Amino acid sequence: MVDNKPFSQACENNRQPILECIKTVFTEPATILEIGTGTGQHAVYFAAELPHLTWQPSDRPGGAEHSLGWIKEADLANIRPPLELDVSLGSWPVDTIDGAYSANTAHIMSWEEVEAMFAGLAKRLIAGGLFCLYGPFNYEGQFTSDSNRQFDHHLRSQAPHMGIRNMDDMLELAGRVRFGLERDVEMPANNRLLVWRKL
Ligand SMILES: C[S@@+](CC[C@H](N)C(=O)[O-])C[C@H]1O[C@@H](n2cnc3c(N)ncnc32)[C@H](O)[C@@H]1O
Repeated sequence: MVDNKPFSQACENNRQPILECIKTVFTEPATILEIGTGTGQHAVYFAAELPHLTWQPSDRPGGAEHSLGWIKEADLANIRPPLELDVSLGSWPVDTIDGAYSANTAHIMSWEEVEAMFAGLAKRLIAGGLFCLYGPFNYEGQFTSDSNRQFDHHLRSQAPHMGIRNMDDMLELAGRVRFGLERDVEMPANNRLLVWRKL
């Protein structure tokens, strides 16, 4: 048991619904790059439940090692040590990506970083490769719940570059770098799981 692992209650709550969805997306053996791994709770849960996948966690320099406690404790053969990856930097520590996953990052990154995440994935994801993006999104410029409105207000008061993204903007951005929205799945607590395919 590794002491003092970072803990997110949200990860405990959402990991099973996310798993139910991504297991229908990542059906073939593949290496999945996770962007913005955070605590590592998702990484170890999905790697354990989806043994046909190799899970590659990553996070910004200075944040990547936060997931080490969970990863070391899980001691799974199909999870790799976390990489340092800041999506806004031109050089990524991976050349070719089979599939990608990211949770609760689009509203934390600046919009320029969200653009950089899609552009970086577009360069490296294999043709037909899938990118699962989980989190809250707005539709037709509207919040889908009061709690999302409050969350957005909280984010913007912390840092003006953060905030819940509009699906119209996401679709326009994704189209620019040739990603198509394959599925938009309703998830608990007013979240969505967006499945993008590299065309
Ligand atoms: C709210 S946390 C989500 C963590 C985890 N995925 C989860 O669902 O609990 C947002 C994550 O995005 C990462 N992040 C923010 N900006 C980033 C960037 N430019 N490149 C890569 N990761 C970034 C943060 O370091 C953090 O781990």
